[in-house]
Amino acid sequence: MTTTEKTNPTKSFHTEAPQEYINQAIDEVMASLPDPALLSSEESRGLIGRYSGVLEGNFIYWMAATYLAVKSKEAKAGIEGNLLEEVRDNHPGMLRKFTVAAKAEPTELDRRVVDRDLQNVRAFIGKMEPLKILLMMAFFEGWIQKFMAYLADMAARRGSKEMVYTDVHGVCDIEHTQGLFHAYAAELALAKNVPSSEELLEGVKLLRTLLQTIIRPA
Ligand SMILES: [Fe+2]
Repeated sequence: MTTTEKTNPTKSFHTEAPQEYINQAIDEVMASLPDPALLSSEESRGLIGRYSGVLEGNFIYWMAATYLAVKSKEAKAGIEGNLLEEVRDNHPGMLRKFTVAAKAEPTELDRRVVDRDLQNVRAFIGKMEPLKILLMMAFFEGWIQKFMAYLADMAARRGSKEMVYTDVHGVCDIEHTQGLFHAYAAELALAKNVPSSEELLEGVKLLRTLLQTIIRPA
């Protein structure tokens, strides 16, 4: 516990409560995944395609927005490390390779069904509110890490052996999630006006809705 948390019980609450909510939200989204054995070929293609269509072009942009939004040195340094890894190791290219090998490229329809929820997340990102955006990205990284085994299983069932993307993200995102929570604590220590717990979770909720549409389009 830092000195700030000891002397400021409200800030301590704001550190612990969102982490609990996020861990639970990750578990709930994971529990909502359909059994891969019961999916038709088109259903598994669609799920991989929608995931890939959203992640490939947005993940680094959202992490870059997080970098721009934060003020503290600790948060900047942590997110910079994360971004460097994404760019240097060409994670979008890794995901593209995974998707093509699984014969699961996104279609126009896949893009259309996620569009409204995706635009809602983008509008939220544009407001660049550091605490909220850090919680959204912590939720995202935490969920991605848990989702990798499921994604790899679907690709394997589709005859793919290309697993670099899922192998890398099943491991590195554990560290990234912790890094984002540290960044959140550093930003919280600087914050003058901390939004309510409910408001802090705005981005988490918008992203969760998008993930649910990726999993089961309405
Ligand atoms: Fe990545």
